[in-house]
Amino acid sequence: MSETDLEQMEGLCVEGCERCPDLVESRSRIVNGVGPEDADVVFVGEGPGANEDEQGEPFVGRSGDVLDGALADHGLRRQDVRITNCVRCRPPENRDPTDEELANCRPYLEAELERISPEVVVALGKVPAQHLLGRDVAVTKEAGTVEPVQVGDVRLDVLVCVHPAATLYDRSQEATFESTIETAATIVGAEGGQSSLGDF
Ligand code: URA
Repeated sequence: MSETDLEQMEGLCVEGCERCPDLVESRSRIVNGVGPEDADVVFVGEGPGANEDEQGEPFVGRSGDVLDGALADHGLRRQDVRITNCVRCRPPENRDPTDEELANCRPYLEAELERISPEVVVALGKVPAQHLLGRDVAVTKEAGTVEPVQVGDVRLDVLVCVHPAATLYDRSQEATFESTIETAATIVGAEGGQSSLGDF
């Protein structure tokens, strides 16, 4: 990354980026990741939607409600995990980010993941799964699988997950989504033991 990129990542916050002309037009603000810098798990979505663009925080709309509910069901709290996106600006009419936009935002995501170096990265949906794994991913088929991948300077385990919004329009995806979040919770010891009170 260039000096400017690194300066922009002070505090993991990107400010004033103008790399993607369409997104500069469509966004109200840049939506940076939220959550602790020492989080054990990082959730990566595609990009901000209307609610996120308005509130300046990832996953705060209906998808966010689904995610928060599943986290709570499996012993994880939103404030203890990191939540971010492949692109930090809302694409026009909620279209998928283009390859160029994904590439433009990649250094920010890499810097965030390198700095946090979590035990597991949960890719929420097809776009982040393909972006992180660098290959085609059949998300419904591969949900729940973990694949190691090199991201910048760090080797990370990526857990493929269906997007929380998928559960809203296809109820049959709910069980897959829940069990993948359960897998993430198990990996970081939030469920099924390893509680910090376990020895007492
Ligand atoms: N969907 C995403 O992929 N990211 C968000 O932040 C919200 C919805």
